[in-house]
Amino acid sequence: MSMYTSSGQPAQKRLTAPDIRARKGGAAIVMLTSYHAHTARILDQHCDVILVGDSLGMVMHGLETTIPVTLDMMILQGHAVMRGSRRALVVVDLPFGSYEVSREQAFTTAARVLKETGCGAIKLEGGQRMAETIRFLTERGVPVMAHVGLTPQSVNALGGFRAQGRDEADWAPIEADARAVVQAGAFSVVLEALAEPLAAQITREVAIPTIGIGASPACDGQVLVLEDMLGLSPWAPKFVKRYTSLGPAIEAAVSAYAAEVRSRRFPGPEHVYAVKKKG
Ligand code: KIV
Repeated sequence: MSMYTSSGQPAQKRLTAPDIRARKGGAAIVMLTSYHAHTARILDQHCDVILVGDSLGMVMHGLETTIPVTLDMMILQGHAVMRGSRRALVVVDLPFGSYEVSREQAFTTAARVLKETGCGAIKLEGGQRMAETIRFLTERGVPVMAHVGLTPQSVNALGGFRAQGRDEADWAPIEADARAVVQAGAFSVVLEALAEPLAAQITREVAIPTIGIGASPACDGQVLVLEDMLGLSPWAPKFVKRYTSLGPAIEAAVSAYAAEVRSRRFPGPEHVYAVKKKG
């Protein structure tokens, strides 16, 4: 691959799945979601991994769950995020129904995502039940980030978005899920909404980086949904820290705009085009 772009500029090297895999036990991995080019451009300066999560169904489309999200939706936004970023590893979620039938179906879907977005890895949900599929994909050149604990695509089976492993009696299958995805070749694993000591224990036990969301500060990295941490989502889970309040800031700006349009103070003379003087 050329070290230079077509315009002769040195190409910016993107982080790869093996780069992230090598961060086990090292500097914390910073990951956020993005679904479009402008936010990807900002995140790219600060994040190691940008996740084009299927949470876009809720955030961008106002859906109740991630179940209705389609592969075309993921590919469109994945492409936008790739155009907006240069350095971060971009990981695109495989949506519900696009990979569970067979390992062949998963490969066909993952290949479409890699070819049509140019992203560096895919993420899929499930532990032991997806291990054979993860092995099939990784042996064929598809880097896989796994996702265990609360897996939102199984919300109907789980009976809601509930933290997992709060009773120690439930730990064994969750630990077995984490071990299974490691053995199958995943380069990292998201631990979502797990009891804190369980997430810390899994992080100690497995040889790949764990990325926590509602999990533990001991995880090798952390991820949040961008709109949740920006205070734009009307509601966010307990584990989200809101770093700013974009919702009220946008409302104040829109309200000022509406008032100025109604009172004809916008546009001002500086926002309109004068006729060019001749001669
Ligand atoms: O879809 C998503 O945003 C995710 C994160 C919550 C990890 O999977």
